[in-house]
Amino acid sequence: MKKLLAGLSGLAFLSAMAGMLYAWAGERPRIFLRRYRVALPGGAGAGIRILHLSDQHFGPDDWVRRRRLRRLQELTANLNPDLILFTGDFLHNDTGLDAVEAMLRTLPPARLGSYAVLGNHDYVEYSYRQLFTGAWQSSAASREPGVRLKALFSDIRSVAQVFWQIYRNDRLRFACIANNTDELKALLDLYDIRLLQNESIPVPEFPNLWLAGVDDPIEGEVDLVKAFAGIPAEAAVIYLTHNPDLAYAPEAARASLTLSGHTHGGQVVLPGLGAIHTQGTMLPRDHPAGYFDDVPGDGKMIVSRGMGESTPLRFRCPPEIIVIDLAPGDGNRDRGLRIALNR
Ligand SMILES: [Fe+2]
Repeated sequence: MKKLLAGLSGLAFLSAMAGMLYAWAGERPRIFLRRYRVALPGGAGAGIRILHLSDQHFGPDDWVRRRRLRRLQELTANLNPDLILFTGDFLHNDTGLDAVEAMLRTLPPARLGSYAVLGNHDYVEYSYRQLFTGAWQSSAASREPGVRLKALFSDIRSVAQVFWQIYRNDRLRFACIANNTDELKALLDLYDIRLLQNESIPVPEFPNLWLAGVDDPIEGEVDLVKAFAGIPAEAAVIYLTHNPDLAYAPEAARASLTLSGHTHGGQVVLPGLGAIHTQGTMLPRDHPAGYFDDVPGDGKMIVSRGMGESTPLRFRCPPEIIVIDLAPGDGNRDRGLRIALNR
């Protein structure tokens, strides 16, 4: 019996280790391409091909970063996009700025331009050190057992609190270090990526199709009224917001199609349980990314799983880039989704 129990625990341990290894190295470099076909009201922009990129989370140079950049180049080489739309989190921290430049250099040209909004990680890097209060370490000099024990409990309570927040799918916000957002903005400017921070702009050659972009609600300054101001009543609107929660704001009801990211699809999706965490958004664990038809107004939203992640683990949730072909027809009658093709 003892032998059986030891064998079973050994097997469980090895399976857990294999699962962790797979989540760290198996899916992370394998970017997928997902395709959608969407009809906007009045068939606005029909024929336009959009490349939607989100959540690169570029950090220090490593094999995953290099494989992803190569894969992105392969996937986009023959796409011929008319518009490239970025929905934020280019950076994980400042060490990723050179990878942002490498990505912008290798992307195909977009006839009608490239546009972006920023995500929370473009402003700050979060530190996991807040998981621990540090009480145990700072109590090291004390010889009183009671003090050390209290410190240990304080650290354990702090870690337990974080796990409780993950369990409840609450928003987690650790201590942060500022990222060099100005340098990121300068880089975007250098490569003609138009940043939309609470503003809107007509798509060149398509006066009945506008783009609106809003700042990040966690680290930026959101002004939705400003973001949608000046858009003609008859125009269809593609709305860029890093955080999908801002698709459900009443002021965003003017959007015909919302593009978003931030959730990373949950990163780790367990059978029967769904995504471990949706980055504190309102999206449910069983639908943390993909196509949504429940947002206000015309009611379409596409949330990308993103190209990167915050914690370096992905399980049953590979990274992705998205291609959207705008189709003729009336988006009010035809909800527009044709199909997602994965490869
Ligand atoms: Fe992100």
